[in-house]
Amino acid sequence: MTDPSLNEPEPKEFEQEERELEKHGLHFELNRRTFMQTAGAFSAAMAFGLPETASAKAPAAAMVRTVTLSVNGSPRPLSLDSRTSLLDALREHLDLTGSKKGCDHGQCGACTVLVNGRRVNSCLTLAFAAEGAEITTIEGLAKTADPKDIGELHPMQAAFLEHDGYQCGYCTPGQICSAVAAVEEYKRGALSIVSLHTGKVDHPEMTDDEIRERMSGNICRCGAYPNIVAAVRTVARGESA
Ligand code: FES
Ligand code: FES
Repeated sequence: MTDPSLNEPEPKEFEQEERELEKHGLHFELNRRTFMQTAGAFSAAMAFGLPETASAKAPAAAMVRTVTLSVNGSPRPLSLDSRTSLLDALREHLDLTGSKKGCDHGQCGACTVLVNGRRVNSCLTLAFAAEGAEITTIEGLAKTADPKDIGELHPMQAAFLEHDGYQCGYCTPGQICSAVAAVEEYKRGALSIVSLHTGKVDHPEMTDDEIRERMSGNICRCGAYPNIVAAVRTVARGESA
């Protein structure tokens, strides 16, 4: 069996590697050597019943950074582990629990929020990558901070209500954020694969097929799709809900 220490960088190489990491602000990353040291200490502590010796605290503390996110029009300063997803920053640190964690793998769309008006899966976006951008969550879509009636909601929220575009509601915040951006994309003349298939590439109509395709990243486990399509169609065509 190959001795793993044979792959260890020489001290000089190691120092150079450390300098490079520091230069790029990545020194907090757990490099192989630190990992081996930490794992060694942890194993020894477990073996000898000395939990306090197994301190992985140093690298963890070093990973915390400060960041200010602009969320729903307000600056929100945060101290976060640099690996925190935007979804966790919103839900766990800012108490904005409208965005939902469905799969945490970019497959369901429940976590969709708008970043500079573009829809993103916040579970796949690092909070730090969203610094400097305007983030809009479902809580920030309505016309007023504390809407009292349907007229104070965003037209897409109102359309979902009018068309019963939900059952359990778990996917709904992501569906609505996604639909808002999808309609904007359509208004800008952005194409989808359906536009290409139908040959309607010069400002395609928002047909039901177009809506289904453009909303295909948002899964609804309750199967409220016909009503979701109806809600999006209403807003895209400028018809009142
Ligand atoms: Fe982000 Fe499912 S939770 S895509
Ligand atoms: Fe239940 Fe969509 S309304 S998952």
